[in-house]
Amino acid sequence: MKTTAAITAVGAYLPDDILTNQDLEKMVDTTNDWILERTGIQERHILKGPYGTSTLAARAIQSLLQQRNLSPLDIDLIIVATTTPDMMFPATANVVGDMIGAKNAWGFDLQAACSGFIYALSTGAQFIETGRYKKVVVVGADKMSSIIDYEDRNTCIIFGDGGGAVLLEPNYEGLGVLDFILHSDGAGREFLHMKAGGSMKPASLETVRNKEHYVYQEGKTVFKFAVTNMADVAVKIMEKNNLGPDDIAWLVPHQANKRIIDSTGQRMGIPPEKVIVNIQKYGNTTSGTIPICLFEWKDKFKKGDNLILASFGGGFTWGAVYVKWGC
Ligand code: UT7
Repeated sequence: MKTTAAITAVGAYLPDDILTNQDLEKMVDTTNDWILERTGIQERHILKGPYGTSTLAARAIQSLLQQRNLSPLDIDLIIVATTTPDMMFPATANVVGDMIGAKNAWGFDLQAACSGFIYALSTGAQFIETGRYKKVVVVGADKMSSIIDYEDRNTCIIFGDGGGAVLLEPNYEGLGVLDFILHSDGAGREFLHMKAGGSMKPASLETVRNKEHYVYQEGKTVFKFAVTNMADVAVKIMEKNNLGPDDIAWLVPHQANKRIIDSTGQRMGIPPEKVIVNIQKYGNTTSGTIPICLFEWKDKFKKGDNLILASFGGGFTWGAVYVKWGC
């Protein structure tokens, strides 16, 4: 039988500090009711202190290694999906490898905004399927608080910090990552981006003064694209794999907005009790949302459960992954 990449362990890390809607009411012109009704978010976790995304990623990997009773030396490859790397270079994956002592691994970062984790999962699975590697760690982690303007009510209510990680190992029983459909359309970049700090517009006094190092989002436009495309791609992967709603045990959607999640579930014909939602506790952790959901629900998953992972984000980037759970 074909070699597939099974998810054999899942870890996550959420920092201790919490930013509630009530806290935000004191910072910007907003209300708990508005945030809850328009997004479903109640609170988010914030990584305080001189720490970067590497800290979130390293802790998520450490929790995963503990579960499988593995040493960091066992890891062959670390892929870190993030939009908030510690630095422009080197890659956060390199920093993380050093932090946890993964001396035998190489690694790289992958940037696909909110779809980072499903892009990285699909990429990591290839290294297992080819037989090249036996243990690939795929991380999704973001310290969104590092690029949020806490005076901008359009964005500061949405995002939080956190990360999750999965271990991929070869499987010969048809379990693991079975299919994916990924898309990108750079024409969407004007609606969700960071204006400065890259090679096109390096940091300057002016860019700092103009607040161009923060997330810029035209929420309504992104919402429209997200609602349509996330549902379309999730339905498409079901059809491609002859899966009806009853065949799917869990929908694991990117947590950007409860209304987007609900409408994706409805379009797929999946009842709410099979749709994983934890946005109320963490907000949108960008690359972190899907692996954090997997971590929180892992004890409910049964061997052979069909999971559909789906996301939409900046780029635009979007896609869906079909995973058969188990190891
Ligand atoms: O994960 C990456 C992809 N990102 C997404 O998927 C996010 C997609 N977008 C969204 O989730 C939603 O568009 C938001 C949550 C960002 C905004 O919700 P919305 O229902 O689209 O609100 P809106 O931007 O259309 O604003 C409606 C009204 C406006 O007032 P007027 O013009 O009607 O008077 C805003 O000024 O709500 C106002 N508003 C707020 N009011 C209270 C905007 N933000 C806030 C706020 N508190 N925080």
